[in-house]
Amino acid sequence: MKRKNALKLKRKNALKFKRKSSLRSLQKNKNSRIQEKSMKNAIETKNLVKKYGKLLAVNGLDMNVPLNSIYGFLGRNGAGKTTTLNIISALIRPSSGDVFVLGESVLRNPGKAKQNIGILPQNANFYHNRTAFDHMVFYAKLAGVENPKKEAKELLHKVGLDEKAHVKVGKFSHGMYKLLGLAQAFIGKPKIVLLDEPTSGLDPKIMYQVRKFILSYKGKTTIVLSSHYLDDVSRLCTHIGIIKDGRMVHEAKTKKSQDLEKIFLRYG
Ligand SMILES: Nc1ncnc2c1ncn2[C@@H]1O[C@H](COP(=O)(O)OP(=O)(O)O)[C@@H](O)[C@H]1O
Ligand SMILES: [Mg+2]
Repeated sequence: MKRKNALKLKRKNALKFKRKSSLRSLQKNKNSRIQEKSMKNAIETKNLVKKYGKLLAVNGLDMNVPLNSIYGFLGRNGAGKTTTLNIISALIRPSSGDVFVLGESVLRNPGKAKQNIGILPQNANFYHNRTAFDHMVFYAKLAGVENPKKEAKELLHKVGLDEKAHVKVGKFSHGMYKLLGLAQAFIGKPKIVLLDEPTSGLDPKIMYQVRKFILSYKGKTTIVLSSHYLDDVSRLCTHIGIIKDGRMVHEAKTKKSQDLEKIFLRYG
């Protein structure tokens, strides 16, 4: 009898503990949602430095990407754009300084950055033997998406690759690779998407498809895109940041009918 009562008590306490901890985690999620809502910037880098031997690839960079903006990240070849994007997405660690993604330090909590960021790398790699659809389903499963096949179908449709969904990726053209990588970056509806030169080397038709796709997320997702095409940037971006020799030299809201080329030649 005594043992039975002790067991009952143990079970009751365990239940109480479970209820308390799930309440705690609910509260934590709620707090983090409130914190994110009142936040002005989705990404902030503070005095960010990345050294490769003696070379300063990123040299004290302060970058502020407003929440739900489309941020054009501009700079000449070798200015430090790819390195910065790789640090923000926790792919590489900085030598010093820090990055805050949705208010949380990437150094302290790289998991939060990885969870909330989708990325199209400058030179994305694909399995040539998979079809575009299988490729998307594979990554949707990895991302823990509820219905991977539905997600794959919707994104391929949205990016304009419906007809190529069941073609093996090895047969794709450069433009089709870019479209597939773009669709992949948006799997699981990440809050932030980093696109490293999404329009480089594209013909006008695919360029248009890419722009249309990106614009459909305007105001809903924070998008950082690095590009050399000022025309693209002025059509797409709400903000720009110009990086030179690893430092931010100009950061501003874009204005209608401004001459981006003039601004770039002055700062970049
Ligand atoms: N893994 C690396 N090892 C050594 N140097 C690197 C490495 N990655 C980038 N760099 C150097 O850092 C600088 C910035 O490169 P990167 O970030 O790729 O510039 P961007 O994307 O603006 O063209 C360049 O001088 C480049 O050669
Ligand atoms: Mg680059």
